[in-house]
Amino acid sequence: MTKNLRVKLLLILYTLLFPITAFATEVVAETQFSQGKEKAIVCMTCHGVDGISTIDTYPNLQGQKQAYFIAALKAYKLRQRNDGLAILMHAQADVLSDKDMQDIAFYFNQVKSTPVKSDD
Ligand code: HEC
Repeated sequence: MTKNLRVKLLLILYTLLFPITAFATEVVAETQFSQGKEKAIVCMTCHGVDGISTIDTYPNLQGQKQAYFIAALKAYKLRQRNDGLAILMHAQADVLSDKDMQDIAFYFNQVKSTPVKSDD
Protein backbone atom coordinates (compact mmCIF):
# COMPACT_ATOMS: atom_id res chain seq x y z
CA MET A 1 0.00 0.00 0.00
CA THR A 2 1.44 3.36 -0.95
CA LYS A 3 1.54 6.12 1.64
CA ASN A 4 -0.93 8.14 -0.42
CA LEU A 5 -3.47 5.35 -0.49
CA ARG A 6 -3.09 4.80 3.22
CA VAL A 7 -3.81 8.48 3.89
CA LYS A 8 -6.88 8.34 1.63
CA LEU A 9 -8.19 5.23 3.38
CA LEU A 10 -7.70 6.88 6.75
CA LEU A 11 -9.59 9.93 5.60
CA ILE A 12 -12.48 7.81 4.32
CA LEU A 13 -12.55 5.88 7.59
CA TYR A 14 -12.54 9.11 9.58
CA THR A 15 -15.37 10.55 7.48
CA LEU A 16 -17.43 7.40 8.05
CA LEU A 17 -16.77 7.25 11.77
CA PHE A 18 -17.10 10.94 12.60
CA PRO A 19 -20.93 11.02 12.72
CA ILE A 20 -20.91 7.93 14.93
CA THR A 21 -18.48 9.45 17.44
CA ALA A 22 -20.32 12.78 17.34
CA PHE A 23 -23.60 10.96 18.06
CA ALA A 24 -22.00 8.94 20.87
CA THR A 25 -20.63 12.14 22.44
CA GLU A 26 -24.09 13.67 22.33
CA VAL A 27 -25.67 10.63 23.97
CA VAL A 28 -23.05 10.68 26.75
CA ALA A 29 -23.70 14.41 27.30
CA GLU A 30 -27.47 13.87 27.49
CA THR A 31 -27.00 11.05 29.98
CA GLN A 32 -24.73 13.17 32.17
CA PHE A 33 -27.21 16.06 32.00
CA SER A 34 -30.15 13.92 33.16
CA GLN A 35 -28.08 12.16 35.83
CA GLY A 36 -26.83 15.52 37.07
CA LYS A 37 -30.37 16.89 37.10
CA GLU A 38 -31.57 13.95 39.19
CA LYS A 39 -28.72 14.37 41.69
CA ALA A 40 -29.24 18.14 41.85
CA ILE A 41 -32.85 17.98 43.04
CA VAL A 42 -31.88 18.77 46.64
CA CYS A 43 -29.67 21.66 45.44
CA MET A 44 -32.58 23.19 43.53
CA THR A 45 -34.46 24.02 46.72
CA CYS A 46 -31.92 26.79 47.32
CA HIS A 47 -30.25 27.34 43.95
CA GLY A 48 -33.34 27.08 41.72
CA VAL A 49 -34.27 24.38 39.16
CA ASP A 50 -32.41 26.30 36.46
CA GLY A 51 -29.60 27.40 38.76
CA ILE A 52 -31.04 30.86 39.32
CA SER A 53 -31.68 31.19 43.05
CA THR A 54 -34.77 32.90 44.32
CA ILE A 55 -33.12 34.10 47.52
CA ASP A 56 -30.85 37.12 47.28
CA THR A 57 -28.13 35.76 49.56
CA TYR A 58 -27.89 32.40 47.72
CA PRO A 59 -25.65 32.29 44.63
CA ASN A 60 -26.75 31.48 41.08
CA LEU A 61 -25.17 28.34 39.64
CA GLN A 62 -26.41 28.51 36.04
CA GLY A 63 -23.56 28.47 33.55
CA GLN A 64 -20.93 28.14 36.26
CA LYS A 65 -17.55 26.80 35.09
CA GLN A 66 -17.35 23.12 35.98
CA ALA A 67 -13.82 23.23 37.42
CA TYR A 68 -14.72 26.15 39.70
CA PHE A 69 -17.97 24.44 40.74
CA ILE A 70 -16.19 21.21 41.70
CA ALA A 71 -13.38 23.08 43.49
CA ALA A 72 -15.99 24.99 45.54
CA LEU A 73 -17.75 21.76 46.55
CA LYS A 74 -14.44 20.16 47.57
CA ALA A 75 -13.57 23.25 49.61
CA TYR A 76 -16.89 22.94 51.49
CA LYS A 77 -16.25 19.23 52.03
CA LEU A 78 -12.76 19.94 53.43
CA ARG A 79 -14.12 22.88 55.48
CA GLN A 80 -11.76 25.26 53.67
CA ARG A 81 -14.81 27.43 52.99
CA ASN A 82 -16.20 28.29 56.40
CA ASP A 83 -17.34 31.87 56.55
CA GLY A 84 -20.71 33.44 55.91
CA LEU A 85 -23.35 31.00 54.74
CA ALA A 86 -20.83 28.24 53.96
CA ILE A 87 -22.26 26.24 56.84
CA LEU A 88 -25.34 25.62 54.67
CA MET A 89 -23.15 23.89 52.09
CA HIS A 90 -21.08 21.63 54.37
CA ALA A 91 -23.66 18.86 54.78
CA GLN A 92 -24.57 19.18 51.09
CA ALA A 93 -21.00 18.64 49.95
CA ASP A 94 -20.31 15.85 52.48
CA VAL A 95 -22.60 13.36 50.75
CA LEU A 96 -21.34 13.94 47.20
CA SER A 97 -18.88 11.60 45.46
CA ASP A 98 -16.46 12.94 42.84
CA LYS A 99 -18.78 11.55 40.14
CA ASP A 100 -21.82 13.27 41.72
CA MET A 101 -19.92 16.57 41.71
CA GLN A 102 -18.98 16.16 38.03
CA ASP A 103 -22.55 15.29 37.00
CA ILE A 104 -24.12 18.14 38.98
CA ALA A 105 -21.47 20.59 37.74
CA PHE A 106 -22.27 19.52 34.18
CA TYR A 107 -26.01 20.01 34.73
CA PHE A 108 -25.71 23.54 36.12
CA ASN A 109 -23.14 24.47 33.47
CA GLN A 110 -25.50 23.42 30.67
CA VAL A 111 -28.97 24.23 32.04
CA LYS A 112 -30.89 27.12 30.48
CA SER A 113 -33.85 29.07 31.80
CA THR A 114 -37.15 28.87 29.99
CA PRO A 115 -37.86 32.38 28.73
CA VAL A 116 -40.79 34.03 30.47
CA LYS A 117 -43.58 34.52 27.92
CA SER A 118 -44.90 38.03 27.55
CA ASP A 119 -48.40 38.76 26.32
CA ASP A 120 -47.46 41.32 23.69
C1 HEC B 1 -29.99 25.17 52.21
C2 HEC B 1 -29.71 25.87 50.96
C3 HEC B 1 -28.71 25.23 50.02
C4 HEC B 1 -28.74 23.96 49.47
C5 HEC B 1 -29.77 22.87 49.71
C6 HEC B 1 -27.59 23.89 48.58
N1 HEC B 1 -26.91 25.05 48.59
FE1 HEC B 1 -25.20 25.48 47.53
N2 HEC B 1 -25.05 27.24 48.46
C7 HEC B 1 -25.96 27.76 49.37
C8 HEC B 1 -25.44 29.03 49.88
C9 HEC B 1 -26.14 29.93 50.87
C10 HEC B 1 -24.19 29.22 49.27
C11 HEC B 1 -23.18 30.36 49.53
C12 HEC B 1 -22.28 29.85 50.65
C13 HEC B 1 -21.06 30.68 50.92
O1 HEC B 1 -21.21 31.84 51.29
O2 HEC B 1 -19.94 30.15 50.77
C14 HEC B 1 -23.97 28.10 48.37
C15 HEC B 1 -22.87 27.96 47.56
C16 HEC B 1 -22.71 26.96 46.63
C17 HEC B 1 -21.63 26.88 45.67
C18 HEC B 1 -20.51 27.90 45.51
C19 HEC B 1 -20.95 28.99 44.57
C20 HEC B 1 -19.87 29.99 44.29
O3 HEC B 1 -20.12 30.85 43.43
O4 HEC B 1 -18.80 29.96 44.88
C21 HEC B 1 -21.82 25.76 44.94
C22 HEC B 1 -20.96 25.24 43.81
C23 HEC B 1 -23.02 25.11 45.45
N3 HEC B 1 -23.54 25.88 46.45
C24 HEC B 1 -23.53 23.93 44.97
C25 HEC B 1 -24.58 23.25 45.58
C26 HEC B 1 -24.95 21.91 45.24
C27 HEC B 1 -24.28 21.07 44.17
C28 HEC B 1 -25.98 21.57 46.05
C29 HEC B 1 -26.73 20.25 46.11
C30 HEC B 1 -25.94 19.08 46.33
C31 HEC B 1 -26.27 22.71 46.90
N4 HEC B 1 -25.39 23.72 46.57
C32 HEC B 1 -27.28 22.75 47.84
C33 HEC B 1 -27.16 27.21 49.73
C34 HEC B 1 -27.54 25.91 49.45
